[in-house]
Amino acid sequence: MTTSASPVVLGVESSCDETGFGIVSDGVLLGQGLASSAAQHAEFGGVVPEIAARAHLEAAVPTLRIALADAGVEARDITHVAATSGPGLATAVHVGLAAAKSVAWALDVPLYGVHHLAGHAAADTLEHGPLPERSIVLIVSGGHTSILAVGDLVRDPIEHLGDTLDDAAGEAFDKVSRLLGLGYPGGPAISRAAVDGDPQAFTFPRALLRPKDAPFTFSFSGLKTAVARTVEKLERAGEPVPVADIAASFEQAVVDVLVTKALRAVRERSLDTLVIVGGVAANARLRAVAQERCDAAGITLRIPPPRLCTDNGAMIAAVGDLLVRSDVEPSGLRIAADPSAVLHGAQLPLPQ
Ligand code: KG4
Ligand code: ZN
Repeated sequence: MTTSASPVVLGVESSCDETGFGIVSDGVLLGQGLASSAAQHAEFGGVVPEIAARAHLEAAVPTLRIALADAGVEARDITHVAATSGPGLATAVHVGLAAAKSVAWALDVPLYGVHHLAGHAAADTLEHGPLPERSIVLIVSGGHTSILAVGDLVRDPIEHLGDTLDDAAGEAFDKVSRLLGLGYPGGPAISRAAVDGDPQAFTFPRALLRPKDAPFTFSFSGLKTAVARTVEKLERAGEPVPVADIAASFEQAVVDVLVTKALRAVRERSLDTLVIVGGVAANARLRAVAQERCDAAGITLRIPPPRLCTDNGAMIAAVGDLLVRSDVEPSGLRIAADPSAVLHGAQLPLPQ
């Protein structure tokens, strides 16, 4: 039970195809509601922004009700609202942000505009408690792949050590899934197919791992092309395409690069904690390989449970709760959607 002094923060997420509402108090997840329009995008092979926006609109009130019931709180118990104001699909972010503004205005409570990727990092605190003083965070989602040096998530600037030059890790899963005919969303589909495959069957390229390459920069488009060429070659030769082996070998190539570079960052900064977050962090092979290599290196690995890796409202509420408890000034109703917001801090700046 929360005391009257504890904040009860409602988080709202709508940056892509998940409509999420979560309620967090003092670092504890009280409850959440989650709706997904993924099935409506499947026939198009990727998220259609207009369909996502309409789905958010339809799901908003019922999903908020589910979150309140799950948390066992009334709307009037909410003391603060936090919403993803970027980055994400413009149409989609707008709907959730408008919903969050309506709730904040109706309840007359403060509103925070938060960065979606800070939400992914904060999700881990709901499972494993506060982050250490400093850590390396590997964010692997459908739109981003970054290695960050993080201190206090809501007070300190976030330092980018490296990003992807082209496709994000999740995007590579989605594209390879499409070309293997496994459908959307690609990550879970590849994972399922890979279970029966041999990760050593094909040697796909691991980009930017040579000593002279940028140590923390990723590139996945060559890997995707290599998979496409392999499939084309087999088809031209009239041979069957071993989908499970290709899926497993592709997954292994992505995981190898992600874990190698993330561990390199931990060592270079003389830190002892690696946090892996974002939708791709739900991947079983990534979780297993990262655990094995962190154990061998004496590094503490933190990965949220799979349901908190993919987009949800709880992670946004977690950022809001941290902002409130750090006495950070709320954004207010003037906060605007910024679909291409770069991650400098957990809270997004107000428009000029
Ligand atoms: O973080 P997220 O839910 O949304 C964004 O912020 O983009 O990440 C979605 C991405 C998608 O590309 C999806 O294919 C990938 O995460 N994903 C996975 C798995 N589950 C979701 N990738 C690999 N393995 C999974 N099990
Ligand atoms: Zn996300």
